This record gives sequence, structure tokens and C-alpha cells, in this order.
Amino acid sequence: MKVARRIENLKPYLFVEINKKIAEKRAKGEEIVSFAIGDPDIPTPPHVVNKLCETAKDPANHRYPDSEGLPELHNAIAEWYKKRFDVTLDPATEVLPLIGSKEGIGHIAFCTIDPGDFALVPDPAYPVYAIGTQLAGGRPYYLSLKESSGFLPNLNGIREDILQKTRVLWINYPNNPTGAVADIGFFNQVVEFARKYNILVCHDGPYSEVAFDGYQPVSFMQAEGAKDVGIEFHSLSKTYNMTGWRIGMVVGNAQAVGALRTLKSNLDSGIPQAIQYMAIEAFKGPQDSISEHNNVYQRRRDLICEVLNNIGLVATPPKASLYIWAKVPDGYNSVDFTSDLLDQVGVAVTPGVGYGRSGEGYVRLSLTIPDASLVKGLSRLAGWRNTRRLTMKR
Ligand SMILES: Cc1ncc(COP(=O)(O)O)c(C=O)c1O
Repeated sequence: MKVARRIENLKPYLFVEINKKIAEKRAKGEEIVSFAIGDPDIPTPPHVVNKLCETAKDPANHRYPDSEGLPELHNAIAEWYKKRFDVTLDPATEVLPLIGSKEGIGHIAFCTIDPGDFALVPDPAYPVYAIGTQLAGGRPYYLSLKESSGFLPNLNGIREDILQKTRVLWINYPNNPTGAVADIGFFNQVVEFARKYNILVCHDGPYSEVAFDGYQPVSFMQAEGAKDVGIEFHSLSKTYNMTGWRIGMVVGNAQAVGALRTLKSNLDSGIPQAIQYMAIEAFKGPQDSISEHNNVYQRRRDLICEVLNNIGLVATPPKASLYIWAKVPDGYNSVDFTSDLLDQVGVAVTPGVGYGRSGEGYVRLSLTIPDASLVKGLSRLAGWRNTRRLTMKR
């Protein structure tokens, strides 16, 4: 067969490559400790899993679900947004459940981008914003996120001719991979910018509940007029440790949500209903697990940052998200450093350049490493030696 150009032009997904390299080492009998992937190691709360067991037995849930999801789930999402962010959403028109937020993030491009259009995409970023844009025939226009600007994009330096062809702006706070956060002032500026250029803001906020030291992230939907110009993707994956169940949502601007609903009704047949009941239970049931998990992540964050700083990286503890974004020592680029760490001490991290050119010089470590592996990983990291510095000194 001839593979379509849009697939031929796709590079393998970042984590597929990393997992392959780790698997090759493991196949040779090497034991690798991985800080590479952001996938909660702590199980889904038991009351949520029990809901699955209960609802899986009901034959009504064995049949095709509605593509757009149960009305009870729409209501539960709207109630959660009201309770958590004081944001009012119309459950019917401003809420849409997704088969994990990645699915919606990829598909929204087909609702917004015509061939040749631009999407403003942060660099570094979660890769799907740019990939979706390209698959829809559009072009990502990268906005470099610099540490000196708190990893917020500069929206003022974009050429007018690009802005005239721009349909979408992607933003993501708390941020993957940098761990940066944004305040409501920044989101208000984004609304003004989007209004001026008639651009749809797609805010990706799956880490809003993973926060430390008492910090509470804000939702883009809290910005004045956010619903006029934007939507927010969210997920149960990181909030309730539900990555494996594949359920998330998009909320906000009714026209954009409606366009995605139309696309999805033509492509998929919805989320298994028993999993929708899990999500309802997660949103409406006890929320204690969130702070319990955050305490675990915060402890890991502090331990990891201490060791990284001791071995010559620069790692500032993030206020939120599951990631530490650390500057590699002088003399290394992010891929060199990652390979050196893997070969010298059998520890896997993610090279920053995998998230975009501006990620060069950084590596990402995830806090979702089980405690037993963490202890081993930290002692291995502590034993890493900067051989380049030694060589240069000699
Ligand atoms: C920034 C960001 N957005 C979206 C997702 C996708 O989450 P899910 O598809 O599990 O809802 C992830 C997953 O790691 C992420 O880091």
C-alpha cells in the first residue's frame, strides 16, 4: 500500500521513541529507572473503580453510548466547574465529554483549521497541538516560551500577515513540560488578543488540580469574556489518576464545542457508558484523594529537585503540574545529557528538545514515579558524574 503523505510526514510520537530505547536496554537485562512519562502511578480512587464494577453489570451499559455522552455527565462536569472555579456552563451546549482530552485536542483542528491556516503553538509544548494542526493541513506558528518570561508566550511580536491567517491559539497552564503557571491577568490579556484578531483560544488545563504549597491554579474560563473566544480542554487523567480509562472533556464557547460535537458524532461512538459513570462518581464523590496525591507529588518534587541541583542541573520546584523542568549542565545539550544519564546510571528522563526547539538545554522529569523506584532513581542520579567538566578541566 502507499501510506498517505500526512502519515509519512509524521515523526514517531515522542514517547514511542523513548519507550523503545528503554525497552531495548531492558531487553539486554539492564534495569532502567524511568522519570520519563507523566502517568500517575497511584491507582484510581476505590469508590470510582467500584462504580465501574457496579455499572459494568448493567446490560444498558453494554450497548452503544451516545456520541455526546450522558446528560448526567454533562451536568456533573458543569457542577464541578461551578464548584471549583465559579464558572457557569450550559451543560447541553458548553460541555462535551471526550475519549481522553488528547482525542479532542487532536480533533479540534479539523473544526477550526483549513489548509494553509496558522495555529499559534507554544514551544516547548505537548506535541498534539502542532500535530493536529498539521494533520488538518494547517501550519503551526511557534511561540517560544522563555524562562525569563515565566514561560508565557509573547503575543505582541507576531507579524500582522501571520495573524490575519491565524485561527487558533494554544496555551497550557499549569504547563507541560515547563511546570509554569499563569494567573488570571495573563488569561485576561489572551482574551483581548483573541478578540482583536478573531482567534479561537484553546486552553489545555489537565493539571489544574495538581498543585503544591497551597497554590490553586485558575481556569482560563474564569477570565472576563473567555467563553466568547475560547474553550478549555480538561481531563480526569491527572485529577483522579484515570489515564487508563480515557475520559476528559472540553468546555466553553458553544460554537466551538458544537463543531467538535458534530465532528465526533461522525467519527466515534462515544465513551463506554460504565466509564462515564466512573467520571460522574469522581466529580461528585469525595475529593480527598486530590490533596493526598498532591502531598505525595510535592514530597517527590522536593527530593528530586534537591538531587538535581546537587549534581549540577538547575531545577526550580514547580508550583503545579507533574513535571520538573531542569536545565542541563553546561557542555551538554538535552539529548546528550539524556543519553549520558541512561548509559552512565540507567536513569531515563525526557530531552527537552522533544517538546520543541526552545526546549533545548532542558530535560523533563515526571513526579509519577513509584516511591520504591524513586529511592533507587535518586541514589543513581546522585551518583551521576559530569565527565565533560572533568575532561575539560584536564
Ligand atoms: C498538556 C497535556 N494535555 C493533554 C494530555 C492528554 O491527557 P488525556 O488524553 O489523558 O486526557 C496530556 C497528557 O499527558 C498533557 O500533558
